[in-house]
Amino acid sequence: MAFNYEERFLYMEDVSIREISKKVPTPFFCYSKRALKENFDKFKKVFPKATICYAIKANSNIAVIKTLAACGAGADVVSGGELFLALKCGIPGSKIVYSGVGKTEKDISLAIQNEIKQINIESAEELEAVNQTAIRLCTRANIAIRINPEVDAHSHDKITTARVTDKFGILWPDALELYKKASNMSGVRIKGIAVHIGSQILDLKPFEETFKKLVKMVKELEKNDIVIENIDIGGGLGVVYKYKEDKPVRTEAFAKLVDKYLAPLKKHIIMEPGRKIVANAGILVSSVLYNKKSGRKDFLIIDAGMNDFMRPALYSAWHEILPVRDWNNRVMKKYDVVGPICESGDTFAKSRELPQLEHGELVAIMGAGAYGSSMGSTYNFRPLTAEVLVDGAKYKVVRKRQSYEDMIASQLDLLK
Ligand code: LLP
Repeated sequence: MAFNYEERFLYMEDVSIREISKKVPTPFFCYSKRALKENFDKFKKVFPKATICYAIKANSNIAVIKTLAACGAGADVVSGGELFLALKCGIPGSKIVYSGVGKTEKDISLAIQNEIKQINIESAEELEAVNQTAIRLCTRANIAIRINPEVDAHSHDKITTARVTDKFGILWPDALELYKKASNMSGVRIKGIAVHIGSQILDLKPFEETFKKLVKMVKELEKNDIVIENIDIGGGLGVVYKYKEDKPVRTEAFAKLVDKYLAPLKKHIIMEPGRKIVANAGILVSSVLYNKKSGRKDFLIIDAGMNDFMRPALYSAWHEILPVRDWNNRVMKKYDVVGPICESGDTFAKSRELPQLEHGELVAIMGAGAYGSSMGSTYNFRPLTAEVLVDGAKYKVVRKRQSYEDMIASQLDLLK
């Protein structure tokens, strides 16, 4: 376990969160290097031959990416910026896959010039743009077609991606035609097929449905003399956010399913896990600013806001909130835990039972390693949050909190 109470205080690995907070002002994200490695190694162990492309969008801190790259991770990127970052972190193009419905010509050029493993095509017009760009660069682009298998992953509405009405991929009955078109293009090299059906999926069924359709599709392609090398099965595996309630799919069970359906096709498997690797390797540490009694409500106002961590505000996501000093013998209270942002949605939890917490006490918002800092903003002109990486008994600030000066640096000329 990366987290534990020792001597009445919360520890990450062998470092006391309270000790970190004496040096690093809250709020800050804190990640366990050991947990990152263990989570990645689990994938490596159950998929020894696959290319595991860590989905950088889940957490784009350089220390996190480099830790995973050192374990052998490739990268799944969805923008020119993420592609640039992956390359800067030393991930070779041969281990990078690039999805996303709105790739610009500049992003496409960068991908082609770095000979990435595959550009996952999401529309007919994009295929044309990739073809033209490659021809202009006197080369061929490695491509896969991301199909939309029309499967409802039954996750949150905003993070489900493969219903017939979603914007992602090519509806699977239309895919064959697009592959045929691609096979006649001089600027592309067909490498694979890709899917990604959503995120925080807690059930194997939607994956099973998807794999069945993938098998059909690959056979159909082969009948048409279109032979692919790679099957990119995307990310999406869910994690525990609500202790004792969420029952996520085990990576091993997922691997069995891949084995059952896809192994007989004898293709190279690519996967794009994000959340499963980083979510529970990270927390957001925040201090209590005020207790506010308002009518019948008890608000606990903390110094982290929805700009630092927007999952609760955006998806009504549940995250455990733990006091950094343990629960023993403390008076319990039901709090609405809220941040300082001027929006009522800036709420981390409603009616949450917690020990009574005083000004200056620390809380840890759990499961904040994925889609936390990477979705952070400067809303209300609040600086981007600091990030800390714990490694055994040591820790390091791996992203400094922005200063106000940093925040206005790109507009300084307007103040002259
Ligand atoms: N591959 C593609 C093409 C994706 O779009 C995503 C996530 C992943 C892989 C990684 O999925 P994962 O293994 O992390 O589930 N902000 C939301 C999640 C959005 C996911 C977007 N795509 C949240 O906080 O729940």
